[in-house]
Amino acid sequence: MIPSVLRCSEAGCGTEVPRDYRGYSCPVCGNLLQAVPNPGPLSPEQLKKNWRERRASNAPLDTSGVWRFREYLPDCPADAVVTLAEGNVPLLAGQKTADYAGARHLWFKHLGWNPTGSFKDLGMTVAVTEARRQGAETVACASTGNTAASMAAYAARANLRARVYLPKGGASMQKLAQALDFGAETQYVDGNFDDALRVLMAEADTGIYFLNSINPFRIEGQKTAIFHLMDQLDWRAPDYIVLPGGNLGNSAAFGKAIEELAAIGLMNPIPRLVIVQARGSNALVRTVESGGSELQVVTDPQTMATAIRIGNPRSWKKALRALRFTGGIVMDVDDADIMAAKQVLGRDGIGSEPASATTLAGIRHLIADGRMDPEARVVAFLTGHALKDTDSILNARRGDA
Ligand code: F0G
Repeated sequence: MIPSVLRCSEAGCGTEVPRDYRGYSCPVCGNLLQAVPNPGPLSPEQLKKNWRERRASNAPLDTSGVWRFREYLPDCPADAVVTLAEGNVPLLAGQKTADYAGARHLWFKHLGWNPTGSFKDLGMTVAVTEARRQGAETVACASTGNTAASMAAYAARANLRARVYLPKGGASMQKLAQALDFGAETQYVDGNFDDALRVLMAEADTGIYFLNSINPFRIEGQKTAIFHLMDQLDWRAPDYIVLPGGNLGNSAAFGKAIEELAAIGLMNPIPRLVIVQARGSNALVRTVESGGSELQVVTDPQTMATAIRIGNPRSWKKALRALRFTGGIVMDVDDADIMAAKQVLGRDGIGSEPASATTLAGIRHLIADGRMDPEARVVAFLTGHALKDTDSILNARRGDA
């Protein structure tokens, strides 16, 4: 459970604000805020036992693969939770994908197999629950599409108005259609995701509750993907956890989960986090290469993996912390790598949208370059369903038929 304050994520600052604070960043130093869980008196062994037993329970909160881990989530009465039974996705062994990457022990955790087809549902169940708890009437986000679709679905369940800001030409039609289907108001912004986020934050008044990943409650929900993974692995940590990086909220969430589980002895050894960006949208790669003290913004981000076409990632400092804590790696892959890897995922019967395929492309490069042991135990997170972006498939196949 999380007490009624949020704390600045900058270690040297530590300023605390009330849980209802709507500023999203620290009023003293401007860094992002984060929730600090207080899991209570249970031992790690008892926590593991609870989490495992809840898998077999039909109680509404236990059927959510997010709220099952509620000792580490914001305190909330069970009947106030907004859930679509998200989070219950399997761990799949790689077959042709493993051969393609040269990895002997490769698994995929496909968060695209969530209710709206992306990992965003894990964060939205927590953050929309919080929006309603705080009495919000309208929720809003800027999005390359998946956040929009997910927010719209959870807002519909919670009877909240949903407003989404999409970059013109930068979100697939499937994602737009989902947001419309769930009743969201949509607005196109000239420019890219970073422009859409700027417009949203400038326009919004205090009556609107923001649901981009600067919202610390989103991070709390997304971090449970790692708790769930560890339960599936019988608490034997993999050597590597690999995920795509865009606005870097998910990287922040995974890093936070690894730290929290390590603090109670449930993350042994500490897996190395590998964040894979698209080469034309590689702000974190550039930032690390230049020493890490200032974000190296990419002013005109490009990639056909539109979900991660982002040049000014807001959670970059939290992502850097995750890399440092885990001895992690940040890398980039080009669009040809992404599309080649995506096709192999399809041949494995798994499928994904392009942004997710960065992970397989990244693993292949790391092994080929000798930076990753082929014997390592590797878990790659896939973040969006194949049907999220069918143009990317059809365009790649034009002329094949
Ligand atoms: N994969 C998919 C399928 C995504 O939709 C996103 C982000 C990411 C990876 C990157 O995650 O931003 O936490 O680093 N999509 C956002 C959106 C930006 O608006 O749907 P991140």
